Amino acid sequence: MATERREGYDAVVGRWDEARHREAFADAGHVYFVGIEGSSPIGFVILRGWASAERVTLVKRIAVVAPGRGQGRMLLAAAIDRVFVETDAYRLCIGLFPDNHRARRAYEAVGFTAEGIARGSAFFNGVHRDELVMAQLRPEWEKRRARQPAPSPDRTAR
Ligand SMILES: CC(C)(COP(=O)(O)OP(=O)(O)OC[C@H]1O[C@@H](n2cnc3c(N)ncnc32)[C@H](O)[C@@H]1OP(=O)(O)O)[C@@H](O)C(=O)NCCC(=O)NCCS
Repeated sequence: MATERREGYDAVVGRWDEARHREAFADAGHVYFVGIEGSSPIGFVILRGWASAERVTLVKRIAVVAPGRGQGRMLLAAAIDRVFVETDAYRLCIGLFPDNHRARRAYEAVGFTAEGIARGSAFFNGVHRDELVMAQLRPEWEKRRARQPAPSPDRTAR
């Protein structure tokens, strides 16, 4: 909750109160990963649609404490591996505001492809906003994985 409330993040990422987080925690369709470097948490990823019957999972939210240092990319890459290794997901998607260039660049670096604009798909701070939809499919992940060794799984704690 502290990370999603960092200065400036209100413009780019959603935030929930404790009750809403606890509700998601209790729901098997939501999975939280926390990235740990040394003994410090560096950020989190929330996935929705974990092991869904549709085989589609959404990266509902991601934020790191210190952006621009490669940590978000590392954390997301580890979470992506967990999705495709531990579930039958075929599609993993993520939505972002089109002007969030830092996020887009980080997502492209870990295999997401921009698919298009979903108009008015986010009701954010009382405003209907467009989202850029990015996704990666299992065969694309498999190709990437064959090229790169997977990050060490003990760098994330679920
Ligand atoms: C999105 C987020 C998780 C990405 O993680 P990160 O650790 O910052 O990402 P990385 O450092 O791995 O990569 C950022 C990339 O964006 C680039 N970048 C940074 N600021 C940029 C800007 N203003 N415009 C374009 N690119 C930018 C960096 O150079 C880097 O690319 P490169 O390594 O190819 O040079 C993180 O920035 C974050 O938590 N942001 C705040 C919350 C947020 O936006 N969440 C996502 C909502 S969809």
